[in-house]
Amino acid sequence: MNTIKLNDKHFELFITKDKIEKAVKNIAKQIENDIDKDEVPIFMGVLNGSFMFVADFVREYSYNCHLSFVKLTSYQGTNSTGKVRKLVGVNENLKGKTVVILEDIIDTGNTLEEIYNIFKNEDLKQLKVATLFFKPDVFKKDLAIDYIGIPIEDKFIVGYGLDYDGLGRNLPNIYQLKK
Ligand code: IMP
Ligand code: MG
Repeated sequence: MNTIKLNDKHFELFITKDKIEKAVKNIAKQIENDIDKDEVPIFMGVLNGSFMFVADFVREYSYNCHLSFVKLTSYQGTNSTGKVRKLVGVNENLKGKTVVILEDIIDTGNTLEEIYNIFKNEDLKQLKVATLFFKPDVFKKDLAIDYIGIPIEDKFIVGYGLDYDGLGRNLPNIYQLKK
């Protein structure tokens, strides 16, 4: 099905699950190459949107790792509210650890900025950021993004964990808002 309807909006097929799978594998291989083999990194998924990416990512990562989640939110409907709210923090001791943030999508970078703020006082060995999707035209921050799966134009997407008003997270493919 190439067109779907979620509440009042229509979306069309944009990125297939095969293409997503390749991008996820590619990120996992890059991170495998970059992390010392005697080190156990902590992968930190940003809920809710990243759950599907994280589940597929960790199955592609071949070495020992820890996995944790943080929960923040900045979107209501299809417009960024500009406000980021921290909902659930980190309880683990992260001192001296490599933490890799796993994001579904980076848009304005407000969420990423909040993430950097959460982790800057943790005395980490290093903080890396991986995002499956990235909107380069909207990103306004001077913050490093270490791994990018698929850069996309500034249009709203759903599927593969991403939602429109709570709907569409279960879709295996990515759909783009129709004008
Ligand atoms: P940012 O803080 O503006 O970078 O937005 C980050 C968060 O907004 C992401 O983690 C998503 O949850 C949500 N978001 C941004 N763009 C989209 C989109 O196109 N579709 C669905 N959610 C989005
Ligand atoms: Mg998110």
